[in-house]
Amino acid sequence: MLLDTYGRVATDLRVSLTDRCNLRCTYCMPEEGLQWLAKPELLTDDEIVRLVRVAVTRLGVTEVRFTGGEPLLRPGLAGIVARCAALDPRPRMSLTTNGIGLARTAAALRDAGLDRVNVSLDTLRPDVFQRLTRRRRHADVLDGLAAARAAGLAPVKINTVLMRGLNDDEAPDLLAWAVDNGYHLRFIEQMPLDAQHGWQRDTMVTAEEILTSLATRFTLTPGTDGDRGSAPAEHWFVDGGPARVGVIASVTRPFCRACDRTRLTADGQIRDCLFAREETDLRQALRTGADDESIAALWRAAMWGKKAGSGLDDPAFLQPRRPMSAIGG
Ligand code: GTP
Ligand code: 5AD
Ligand code: SF4
Repeated sequence: MLLDTYGRVATDLRVSLTDRCNLRCTYCMPEEGLQWLAKPELLTDDEIVRLVRVAVTRLGVTEVRFTGGEPLLRPGLAGIVARCAALDPRPRMSLTTNGIGLARTAAALRDAGLDRVNVSLDTLRPDVFQRLTRRRRHADVLDGLAAARAAGLAPVKINTVLMRGLNDDEAPDLLAWAVDNGYHLRFIEQMPLDAQHGWQRDTMVTAEEILTSLATRFTLTPGTDGDRGSAPAEHWFVDGGPARVGVIASVTRPFCRACDRTRLTADGQIRDCLFAREETDLRQALRTGADDESIAALWRAAMWGKKAGSGLDDPAFLQPRRPMSAIGG
């Protein structure tokens, strides 16, 4: 079990498969990209599957989410999914992707054992997409979403970050479109995890603003889940349901108290939190012949030291050294 001193148990493993990406979202990374990890620094497919096996067989992990950068850029993705699906106990598996390439791969990923996908989409307007992501790939994302739905990777969730002056007027249009198309839309408050350190609390679009904007067109009633458990999103029914909309208010309504996550970076470091300042090196252990139980012990020790919260409200808050794209959202 991955327990911490606050009594939280991590059962949800997020595995970053690469730090690279084929978009350049302004809230994430600069136009020129970042200094990418070199191939020998990345865990191999075998190393990833071994760590997932240790997590599910010795540490009580039940959910595995593959992230990036952009995880579809990892050539071995379908093979990794298939090998993780063969583990006993079999973890539930999902993918967080920008959707580019999903049109070609959704069916194969489902066949390999993937259960569901979350796709990032911030706008319905191709010109705004280009300003936000610095790439002309809007149609590819829409095709990817449709393919995921057709492949039965349900529920297909959409993650949307609103940026002031760019797409902050689009919340109702996005919701109407998502409801019509059978996607589950969630708005995410922008977090200080961009490589450029450009985040500012006073320009961030807050959950409250988003809900106010949605209420101009929809009647929102609290989702019936009551206790949201460890899920980062809070939900509202749209016009009486059954469609719902979610808001992930990591900044204004943090959910750290119920956090059930542990993270593995593409270069084999365990992070106990998105905002952690320290990491535990499992790659070194793997490559110097550690057995499964020693790796499990290192992982348990890494999580035991998890802090109470993200520290975002602390005046001395410091952004983690790695940006979001190298942690895996
Ligand atoms: P499901 O609800 O299981 O579908 O997944 P998820 O919402 O955890 O996954 P996803 O990768 O789609 O993450 C969506 C957003 O949630 C991320 O971009 C983050 O903004 C936020 N998020 C995920 N994990 C954490 C976390 O541990 N802490 C904080 N503060 N935010 C997180
Ligand atoms: N704040 C909030 N969300 C972010 N994402 C990327 N960077 C940030 C940030 N700084 C989102 C992406 C994707 C998800 C994994 O995280 O849009 O949907
Ligand atoms: Fe790529 Fe995701 Fe970062 Fe956008 S937010 S540049 S899609 S890693």
